[in-house]
Amino acid sequence: MGCFCLDRLVLFMGPAALLGFLYLFFFTRFYFVPLFYLAWYVADIKTPECGGRRWNWVRKWSLWKDYASYFPVSLVKEADLDPKFNYFIGSHPHGILCSGAFCNFATEGTNVSKVFPGIRFTLTTLNCQFVMPLYREFFMTSGAVSASRKSIDYVLGSSCGGNAVVLVVGGAPESLDTHPNLDDITLILKPRKGFIRLALKHGAHLVPSFSFGENEVYDQVDNPRGSRLRNFQDYLQKLIGLAPVLIKGRGIFQYSFGIIPNRRPITTVVGKPIPVERTGNPSDEQVNELHSKYVSELVDLFERHKNKYYPPREHIKLKIL
Ligand SMILES: *[C@@H]1O[C@H](CO)[C@@H](O)[C@H](O)[C@H]1NC(C)=O
Repeated sequence: MGCFCLDRLVLFMGPAALLGFLYLFFFTRFYFVPLFYLAWYVADIKTPECGGRRWNWVRKWSLWKDYASYFPVSLVKEADLDPKFNYFIGSHPHGILCSGAFCNFATEGTNVSKVFPGIRFTLTTLNCQFVMPLYREFFMTSGAVSASRKSIDYVLGSSCGGNAVVLVVGGAPESLDTHPNLDDITLILKPRKGFIRLALKHGAHLVPSFSFGENEVYDQVDNPRGSRLRNFQDYLQKLIGLAPVLIKGRGIFQYSFGIIPNRRPITTVVGKPIPVERTGNPSDEQVNELHSKYVSELVDLFERHKNKYYPPREHIKLKIL
């Protein structure tokens, strides 16, 4: 049971390390330790854009198996992924902390390397995950890299097959629409075309994936679109990149308040790949056509599985913005 606290404590690792280094620098004779770290930090600043620093030993920690069995998180595939090709996996919805995408693709918590033999999964995230001292080193062991064009070019351009880049397409703005027990799940997808263009450029087959239950694990303070709170959150989100979600999870010993997620199952279904021909300089028309195809495959995937993974809510549907 102790495990589910540990993974949330990781979120405090960055600020704690920062304070620790400041303390060492100003108040002790070990001031050289933060200086050495700073030198390393500067020399290493580009690594999250250049493939990251995966450490399979950390990905296999039993902590992640405990994390997976807490909700529980599970991984379901509709088809095999042939290691002869590269893949671009769209992950939906964002949820609050991408618990499903993280557990399935950035760790071995659900045995992803056994489910998809020969495929190396790379989760892409906001660059701000790589800013905090020590936390960035820890986070990089998962194989995660930043979600920029350059970084994705690096991963998909350096091999002809066996790589799968995972992008949480809706990004931080989508997390502001994350509330449990809704009848429609909001996905921000219409303005998101960069990943389609990148898939075409690299000839990476597009794979839709949906994490059923992702939006159920945290309760968020009510913030309907147009409310004053929501306008303020949207403003802050544009300013800092991160979405300032006000979450209500459960405490450690009580259930109404806390940052611990609720124990509700998350099932990530990875769909059938959509074949993509490598296209040097795709036209807007080609991008739009593939984008529509992707969206309709994603909706089909959702419809095929929703009754199985959302038993009490048969009217649930996707709302694509
Ligand atoms: C992962 O693999 C291990 C060893 O083969 C097995 O014991 C475990 O049940 C698997 N976990 C899942 C979630 O499939």
